[in-house]
Amino acid sequence: MDRIGIAGGVPLKGEIAVTGAKNAALKLMVAALLSDKPLTLENMPDVADVAALKQVLEVLGATVSDDPRRTGRMTLHVPEITSTTAPYDLVRKMRASVLVFGPLLARSGVAKVSLPGGCAIGTRPVDLHIMGLEALGARIDLEDGYLLGEVPGRLKGADITFPMISVGATEHVMMAATLAQGMTVLRQAAQEPEIADLAICLNAMGADIEGAGTATIRINGVESLHGASHHVIPDRIETGTYAMAAAATDGEIELLNTSTEFLGDAVQALEAAGVGIQPSNRGITACRANGRLLAVDITTTPYPGFATDLQAQFMSLMATAEGESHIHENIFENRFMHVPELMRMGADIQVHGGSAIVRGVESLHGAPVMATDLRASVSLVLAGLAAEGETIVNRVYHLDRGYERLVDKLASCGARIERLAG
Ligand code: UD1
Repeated sequence: MDRIGIAGGVPLKGEIAVTGAKNAALKLMVAALLSDKPLTLENMPDVADVAALKQVLEVLGATVSDDPRRTGRMTLHVPEITSTTAPYDLVRKMRASVLVFGPLLARSGVAKVSLPGGCAIGTRPVDLHIMGLEALGARIDLEDGYLLGEVPGRLKGADITFPMISVGATEHVMMAATLAQGMTVLRQAAQEPEIADLAICLNAMGADIEGAGTATIRINGVESLHGASHHVIPDRIETGTYAMAAAATDGEIELLNTSTEFLGDAVQALEAAGVGIQPSNRGITACRANGRLLAVDITTTPYPGFATDLQAQFMSLMATAEGESHIHENIFENRFMHVPELMRMGADIQVHGGSAIVRGVESLHGAPVMATDLRASVSLVLAGLAAEGETIVNRVYHLDRGYERLVDKLASCGARIERLAG
C-alpha cells in the first residue's frame, strides 16, 4: 500500500487549481440514469470515488466517456437500463452509489441495490432515503443485504418532511421525484451547495425544481428528462483544506477557480483563527494573517454551518494555535479517528464523546501515522506539512478517493512531499 512521506516545516507558496466538487460530481453522474440522452459534465475531479461510481453506472447500462487528456469533461449516456442490480462488491467501495436506487426505480420501476453498510466515521444508515422513496409510492424490502424496490405504475409526488437533515436523502428523493407524477415537496431538506448544483443540472435536463439550496424544495414531476451539459461547482472542502495548508505552514497559496461563496461558517472560523482569505482575480489567496494562529471553537452542523468534512483539518490547525479550542462534532458519531494520530505528533487533545478539547502546543513533530477515512488522512498531511521532521502517512488510498493529485499540488507550492510505493 502506498504511503506519503513529508519533510515538514516549509512555508507553502504558489498556486493550486481547485477541482470540481467530488460530492457534487458523484450525484451529477447518478442523474444521468434519469434520461436516455447524454449528459456532459465539465470540471469533473479525477478521483477514485468518481472511478468507482463509473463502474457501478456501467453495470447498469451507462457508457461513460474516458477522458484520456484529463480535461475534466465526462459524458454519460444511458440509452437503456440494461441491469437494475447494483451489486455489493461495487456499492461497498463507494457509499454514495446507493443513490442509484431511486433513479432506477423512477426510470425502470424496479431496482435491487446493495446496502452500503457502515464506514469508519459511523453507521450511516439509509432509513431516510427509504422513507422518502416509500412516500413517493415505491414498495421497498430488505433482503440479504439488498434493497429491493418496485413501483406500481409511476412514482407519485408527495409532501415529505425529513425528521433529520440528510444530504444524501435529500438528493436521492429529489432525483427520483423529477420523474414522479405531480408535485413533491421536501421539507427540512439539506441545503448544501452540491444540492443546488444538482438541481441546476436536473433543470437543464428538463426537470422542474425550485428551492434547492433552501430547506424547502418543490419538484414538479415531468414525463422524461433530456440531455444537457453542466459545469460542476468548485470543491469547497478542497478549497478549505488548501487554505488551511497555507496557514498551517505560514505560507501563501492562491487557490484558482474557487471562491469563499460555499464555505459557509468555515470562513468566519478561519478568519477568527488568523487565516487571511482574500478574493483574487483567479480565485482566492490564503495565508496566515499575523503571527501565531489563535484557538477558535467550532461546532459542525449542516450547511451553512461549519462542515464536518473540514473538522479534522481544522483540528490539525488548532493543534498549534494559541489557546484552547473546543471542537464539537454533531454530524457523525465517530469522526475523531485523527485524534490519536495527531497526538503521536505531539498534539494535546482530549476527547469526551462528540467533543474534543485541543490545547495548542508550540509545534508538532513528524511521526508515522495512519488514518481510516478521507478527511482524517488529509488532516495528518496538514499536520505533517507544519511539523518539524519527517511524517509518513499510511493508507494513501483514502486520500485518492477525494483529492486529485494531492502530492503534486502541494509539491508545486514547495512542499517536500512524495508518494512512496509499496
Ligand atoms: C454527505 C457527504 C459527506 C458529508 C455529509 C455531511 C457525499 C458523497 N458525502 O454524506 O462527505 O460529510 O454529507 O455533510 O456527498 N443519516 C441517517 N439516516 C439516513 C441518512 C443519514 O440517520 O437515511 C444520518 C447519518 O448517519 C449522519 C447524518 O444523518 O449521521 C448526516 O448524513 P448525511 O447528510 O446523509 O451524509 P451523506 O449524504 O452520507
